[in-house]
Amino acid sequence: MIASTSSLTPALLRQLIAAAVAAPSVHNTQPWLFRIDDDVIHLYGDASRQLQAQDPDGRALLMSCGAALLNLRLAAEHFGHTSTTTIFPNADDPLHVAVIDLHGQASSTGMVDELFAAIPHRHTNRLPYEDRPVPPAVLEALAEAASQEGAIFYPVTDAAERRRLVDLIHDADATTDPEVMAEARKWTGVDDSRPDGVPADALGPIPQSPSTPHRDLAPGRVISGRGFAVFESDPTLAVLTTGRDDRASWVAAGQAIQRVLLVATVEGLVATYANQPLEAPGLRWLVRDPDQPISFPQMLFRIGYAPAAPATPRRPVEDVIIEA
Ligand SMILES: Cc1cc2nc3c(=O)[nH]c(=O)nc-3n(C[C@H](O)[C@H](O)[C@H](O)COP(=O)(O)O)c2cc1C
Repeated sequence: MIASTSSLTPALLRQLIAAAVAAPSVHNTQPWLFRIDDDVIHLYGDASRQLQAQDPDGRALLMSCGAALLNLRLAAEHFGHTSTTTIFPNADDPLHVAVIDLHGQASSTGMVDELFAAIPHRHTNRLPYEDRPVPPAVLEALAEAASQEGAIFYPVTDAAERRRLVDLIHDADATTDPEVMAEARKWTGVDDSRPDGVPADALGPIPQSPSTPHRDLAPGRVISGRGFAVFESDPTLAVLTTGRDDRASWVAAGQAIQRVLLVATVEGLVATYANQPLEAPGLRWLVRDPDQPISFPQMLFRIGYAPAAPATPRRPVEDVIIEA
């Protein structure tokens, strides 16, 4: 039950949280909880949904919460409410990720409405992409989106640098920890009756060429109906980094990736990720292009044009709201 003492109606609060939970999350773990307190929404990380083997520091969990927070902020603004966000408001509770105060009224701008409208159309797309370059002006718009949330986004345009990155992706594939693999089995290629996890039909095909920079979320597993395909020969790769590498930066990175993805959706682009070298402690720092300013890699994207990918499920809004 949603509390009704707020000047925001229960239906509107529900819409804001529904927008938030449409965000991407690592392995679709949906590691978030919300508490409503009049016109204030509290966002918490859900430690019971943290990937303990793959994500021991909770970086991916906090990026997932950050992505949900960006959606919530956009939805609030779209419906005419300003949102004042405080990150980690309670030093004694590291899972209290943000407080979003919705007291003010504001009229939304055209871009906010466009990004809000893009929320249900953004899906991680693991299909082969068209052999068609992303125009530099569009890549600049993605970089601008990341910078609005305090992050850096750069496409990897230099051929030698791209080869180096692709090698890192393959090195990470070759060194995956058995515990990480066992944990991933619980969340990927799952039965589509589940309200979370990555269902088999969202895994996409397996690239025919082993040199494709890709992340197979179910490596070595036989999944009925899953075949091989030829992927684009020259994928557009991009890296998102932050100036620091603390918990607040991970929440900022999550907001930045979601703003980047929504701008990409508006531009008719799709995206997926090949984050495996970012999860390998010995490889993560090598992802940064040495010619870029010193910063901390948070996300490695493959971006392009492709047919629509299937949506993944979400838990019902009621299941992510905790009582005050
Ligand atoms: C922090 C983070 C890391 C992710 N890493 C990967 C990845 O390396 N490879 C991948 O295919 N998807 C990755 N994803 C995408 C999730 O699997 C995806 O968001 C989730 O399954 C929900 O599906 P949707 O994005 O289509 O809504 C990541 C998402 C987040 C937020």
